[in-house]
Amino acid sequence: MESWPDLIQRAQRCVACRLAEGRHRVVFGAGDPKALLMLVGEAPGQDEDLSGEPFVGRAGELLTNILKAVGLNRADVFITNTVMCRPPKNRPPEPDEQLSCRPFLEAKMAAVDPKMVVLLGAVATKALLEDPHAAITRLRGSRHLRRGRLYYPTYHPAALLRDPEKKRPVWEDFKRIRRDYDRLQAGLEVEPDA
Ligand code: URA
Repeated sequence: MESWPDLIQRAQRCVACRLAEGRHRVVFGAGDPKALLMLVGEAPGQDEDLSGEPFVGRAGELLTNILKAVGLNRADVFITNTVMCRPPKNRPPEPDEQLSCRPFLEAKMAAVDPKMVVLLGAVATKALLEDPHAAITRLRGSRHLRRGRLYYPTYHPAALLRDPEKKRPVWEDFKRIRRDYDRLQAGLEVEPDA
């Protein structure tokens, strides 16, 4: 398998889709490359595009606090997105852009090999559950087993900033994620819901 530094270098040079044209930085992802838990968001925004780090803007600050609330640091997990370059005007990434970036996401997933993947929002949920009709309002709070990994759809932190009523369900989701994390770390089984 390609080494982690080689994968990062190849990502930094990627011009596989039109998003490469407007970017300042490729946002590869950050955290522990051997994490038990990976989080996948939508796409880099302005702050991420300028810094090269995922989730560093307002939504990122909230994500960091949610993780802290369940006793996790950003350095304990691996955080990335469905695409590594900022879409213009923060529009959602197009299906063909997601497809272009997909081999990188798969390569990160294969290298980190997380047992748990938290899907932040509808875009990541549709992409990784491979269901374009997946409804985040219905799916959040559930766990899905796919190819040996557990997937946990939940609301995107930016949605929480717009609608504080989503905070309670997300808190419930992360409490459960933390319980499962502890079980898996202890070598115990976690049963999927679907
Ligand atoms: N920042 C990211 O890195 N991803 C998002 O989905 C939103 C903000």
